[in-house]
Amino acid sequence: MTLPRLSLFDTDPAERDVDAIVIGVHSRDRGDLLVGTGAESIAAAFDGRLTATLKLLGSTGAAGEVVKLATLGTITAPLVVAVGLGPEPAGETPAPEVLRRAAGAAVRALEGHRRVAVALPVPDGTGLATAVRALAEGALLGAYRFDGYRSTPPRTERVASVALYVPDVRDRAARAEVRRASVVAQAVAQARDWVNTPPNYLRPPAFADAVARAGESAGLEVEVLDEKDLRRGGYGGILTVGQGSQSPPRLVRLAYQPASGTPAARVALVGKGVTFDSGGVSIKPNQGMWQMKSDMAGAAAVAATILAVAALRPRVAVTAWLPIVENMPSGSAYRPGDVVSMYGGKTVEVLNTDAEGRMILADAIARACEESPDVLLETSTLTGGQIISLGRRVAGVMGTPELCEQIRVAGEATGEPAWPMPLPDDVRQAMESTVADVCQTNASQERVGTMLQGGAFLSEFVADGVRWAHIDIAGPAFNVGEPVGYLPKGGTGVPVRTLLHVIEQLPG
Ligand code: BES
Ligand code: MN
Ligand code: ZN
Repeated sequence: MTLPRLSLFDTDPAERDVDAIVIGVHSRDRGDLLVGTGAESIAAAFDGRLTATLKLLGSTGAAGEVVKLATLGTITAPLVVAVGLGPEPAGETPAPEVLRRAAGAAVRALEGHRRVAVALPVPDGTGLATAVRALAEGALLGAYRFDGYRSTPPRTERVASVALYVPDVRDRAARAEVRRASVVAQAVAQARDWVNTPPNYLRPPAFADAVARAGESAGLEVEVLDEKDLRRGGYGGILTVGQGSQSPPRLVRLAYQPASGTPAARVALVGKGVTFDSGGVSIKPNQGMWQMKSDMAGAAAVAATILAVAALRPRVAVTAWLPIVENMPSGSAYRPGDVVSMYGGKTVEVLNTDAEGRMILADAIARACEESPDVLLETSTLTGGQIISLGRRVAGVMGTPELCEQIRVAGEATGEPAWPMPLPDDVRQAMESTVADVCQTNASQERVGTMLQGGAFLSEFVADGVRWAHIDIAGPAFNVGEPVGYLPKGGTGVPVRTLLHVIEQLPG
């Protein structure tokens, strides 16, 4: 989809010639409302009656609440949208995630209006860039829609432009954030589009081709291994999971090199690309199985991240690896009990064909490690256990403790919460096999610590000396609930902004 054009303005919001203007309201004790800074001139144009009118319309200032008000000539814009910012902030302006969600909720509610201005509270001076980043990302991501496949497309107009109010449009940091947010939001939208694409339209060769095309237009080095290449290379994990499908597997490699000088760090990204996960012979129950079209969200995020990297050009070398398969039951499908010789020669005893993600990721991780990255970041919709442990919004992170902590911090900054999890010895010991180097899950198949088993399994394929992290996004990658803030239903684009944040911090 195409996202709105983004710009800054520093003139009077009350005189802004747009179709709708967004202001913020805080909730106060005893049900009072407080109009956020940036909207003073609009409040003045209403002769002190703005908060009373908003209250009359039901506004409470609760975070994410959206109340629309026809301005009837009091200001230039015909519509004011008051978005709730929650309680008055302790500091000068609300936290970045409050701004991001507010901008997202407001713009999401403005489908049908072409030109939108946002006059939400931003600090003058320190903190301005952070606030602009949050507002810009929130507004653009809130405008996201999946085009879909309706025979008669909906006729409602999309938001075409968003202008953000800042004290001074010449501020260089603010302008840089506008450019960055446009790139980042485009990447997140791309990841969401891929996740939302129905699985019959995105079988492995089609997904690999789409990623390769996007990579080539971004100027990345692109390599796609097809089933013959995979057989020649000994990619047992990818081939084994792929063998049950009529649609052959792929391994995509995308690479970005900084223009000049030695890179400050070398990063490998790995993402799970199961275009549909039926469970295979260990078939899943029908209820909700359609959601397994999102089982390639890790691959989509990793591809989108390196597309953004190509545009932002950090001093870091980045390679993205996408193992792509369809996990299907058939006469040629793999079975529980099979022993698989993986890329690099380790053997794995299969206990459940529904634990397919780790099979394809192990090959990709082992291959990625041959290029000796400093850091390896892997992300996947790996386990239902992640959702049981941490819920639908918080990703589980396992790996090198310092890197896990960096990811937690990056997740906090970007509004993509992630929480470090341990890799205890007993979990690994329970995966000892009597016939192979390791079992795919715990040998007893008791459903305990399943998220940790995923991490413990993958750690076996990471080369010594590589700092690594596994980010389980089973819940956060796909919103099965209602839209909230800048998160739509369906694909969310998590953890693109976290991965970018970590990559951008590496030179420092
Ligand atoms: N793709 C699923 C995990 C998943 C579940 C993602 C729900 C998103 C929502 C994965 O391949 C899977 O089936 N995992 C199994 C592993 C088990 C068989 C060891 C699980 O978590 O149940
Ligand atoms: Mn599965
Ligand atoms: Zn899966």
